Amino acid sequence: QSADTAAAVAGADLAQLREMVVGCTACGLCHGRKQAVFGTGAPAARWLVVGEAPGEQEDRKGEPFVGRSGQLLDAMLASVGMSRDKDVFIANVIKCRPPGNRNPKPEEIAACSPYLLRQITLLKPERILVVGRFAAQTLLQTEASIASLRGRVHHLDAPDGRRIPLVVSYHPAYLLRSPLEKARAWQDLQLAVTLDKPAG
Ligand code: URA
Repeated sequence: QSADTAAAVAGADLAQLREMVVGCTACGLCHGRKQAVFGTGAPAARWLVVGEAPGEQEDRKGEPFVGRSGQLLDAMLASVGMSRDKDVFIANVIKCRPPGNRNPKPEEIAACSPYLLRQITLLKPERILVVGRFAAQTLLQTEASIASLRGRVHHLDAPDGRRIPLVVSYHPAYLLRSPLEKARAWQDLQLAVTLDKPAG
């Protein structure tokens, strides 16, 4: 992003940020997208769920997690009493669909990350649930596997100085292929919920 764009992102409210994302041309992904996917949910949501990037259906609809992965994500959230509309805001690290759903490139991550960081600053989530290796490695700046990152609480140092508890779990698309891991994902959700309860 240019210095001008970075300054505009840093000063944007949620509506302005959405406009910027929708019109973004900061990397080559803008050429192949039907539309950018900003994220959905209540601005006052207590949890932020972070995925990887839009797939074909998300690109068409302009909303995150609307395909089969999204149905599973909704069911996972419902299993701990959380709903997409009221309790969580869902966003991706990358706002535009990579061609053929390939992994995002470092320059695309660099161009897009400021939007997610600004979303975190504006939404002030109490908790971040990160699904999948790509988002976990990007947000935690690590090469570690999901298996080694899940099952414990991490913290994200947000740009505004807050330390936000962050829980890592498997991506719903992976769970569709490996249903036996669902029990572990449920443990991760339990961990995130337990954090919501006051200690003592
Ligand atoms: N997978 C993701 O990581 N995000 C989406 O929005 C859809 C599928």
